[in-house]
Amino acid sequence: MTIPARLPETMHRMLFRTLSLLTPRGQGAVLGRYFDWWHRRPDPWNLGTDGYEHHKYTTTLRQLPARPYRRILEVGCSEGVFTRLLATAYPDAEITGIDISARALDRARRRMGATRRVRFLEADILSHRPDHRFDLVFCAETLYYLGRGDRVRRASARLSDLLDSAGLLVMVHPWPEAERLHRHLEAGTAVAKLTEHVEITVHRPFAVAVYQAGTASRPTA
Ligand SMILES: C[S@@+](CC[C@H](N)C(=O)[O-])C[C@H]1O[C@@H](n2cnc3c(N)ncnc32)[C@H](O)[C@@H]1O
Repeated sequence: MTIPARLPETMHRMLFRTLSLLTPRGQGAVLGRYFDWWHRRPDPWNLGTDGYEHHKYTTTLRQLPARPYRRILEVGCSEGVFTRLLATAYPDAEITGIDISARALDRARRRMGATRRVRFLEADILSHRPDHRFDLVFCAETLYYLGRGDRVRRASARLSDLLDSAGLLVMVHPWPEAERLHRHLEAGTAVAKLTEHVEITVHRPFAVAVYQAGTASRPTA
């Protein structure tokens, strides 16, 4: 992940906190343009080539309980590097990747080639309302772009609401910042934490937290 190397992490977070002073709609519009610009060159975070990123992906997949996942959503999928690993790991699943950058999604579609069970949609996690729920949802290295606590809380509520009953939400963020980013999920009653793996033996520690939706019946999305 090259952002912290290019901009100190605190300045990076300040920039996105400032953007979150806009209305949610205004914030989404600016983030869409920002991430299209950020993707002006292919794979801007080297997600497809960096050994650390690959280690994070395989560590993430190892945390999942073995289940026959049928509908999988990846939020903030960028150019589809992890999406492709998901498609290999779960050959029977229908997989959706969403991202706020149209340019990233064009590359994700090219990366996946022609396959009807994987699709990519341009969407903002703050406003996305899919027509069905998912039994597995991933959100990795994305929540800190939402900025201030109120927006992270709204995004956390949206993420929980994307889950089918007993569906799993997998959150992957830098450690210890993950404690702040995941705290709204921890404080609410929509999901309960099943497991948390903290990888500290790497230059940029990260946490993989797995949450499960409650089984109480909820209105449809
Ligand atoms: C650092 S990349 C993470 C990619 C991937 N999740 C991973 O871990 O390899 C973050 C992605 O989140 C997307 N993103 C940022 N804010 C978003 C939002 N509000 N809704 C949807 N996607 C967003 C960006 O366009 C970018 O592609």
